[in-house]
Amino acid sequence: MSKRIVVLISGSGSNLQAIMDAIDAGQINGRIAAVLSNKADAYGLERAQKANIPALILKHTEFDDRESFDQAMIEKIDHYQPDLIVLAGFMRILTAEFVRHYQGRMLNIHPSLLPKYKGLHTHKRAIEAGDLYHGCTVHFVTEELDGGPLAVQGKVSIDMDDDEDSLQQKVHAVEHKIYPLAVEWICSDKLKWTPKGILINNQPLPSEGYQLDSSV
Ligand code: GAR
Repeated sequence: MSKRIVVLISGSGSNLQAIMDAIDAGQINGRIAAVLSNKADAYGLERAQKANIPALILKHTEFDDRESFDQAMIEKIDHYQPDLIVLAGFMRILTAEFVRHYQGRMLNIHPSLLPKYKGLHTHKRAIEAGDLYHGCTVHFVTEELDGGPLAVQGKVSIDMDDDEDSLQQKVHAVEHKIYPLAVEWICSDKLKWTPKGILINNQPLPSEGYQLDSSV
């Protein structure tokens, strides 16, 4: 059965685009049922509209608190009966209730090699720390911010002449590979969340997730 996906965004939506492209190319056994943004001017909404995908806006600024905003999101999202929620640059902290509601079927992409550099300004922090490598991680979402079990990681090298912008571009390019891959694997049941841990091909996935670099 083809899986129903709802994508949450706040901005450009280049990861959304990468997933839409992989679906169009027949690589993912799923379809995007809706895209929801907490910002009305998110360019990702235009990407969705161009692809005839319902593009929903729910402004967090119009709610009194996080709880009522998240509850309103649940109502909008559940209308589409999704199998998978994909956070693609969705820049809001989620309530525990929201996270529990989608436990095991919500993914996020984060621009660092988690567990390093949770939170913001990851590229700057990696450069300032003198790291030789940086990258991005797709993980399952739990109540701990950027702390859920890792699914797929992709690495890039930090070169002498890299600055925050160039590093961000390199990481973005890898994000556009690992996110469609993780979504593909979930949609084909190759990658699964279980209460005891993540499975890949019914075997336990190591805690650092599947390393894309080591296999290409
Ligand atoms: C991506 O780089 C993603 O890793 C990051 O936002 C960007 C969204 O880009 N997410 C986070 O920082 C979440 N903490 P996009 O809108 O072009 O997909």
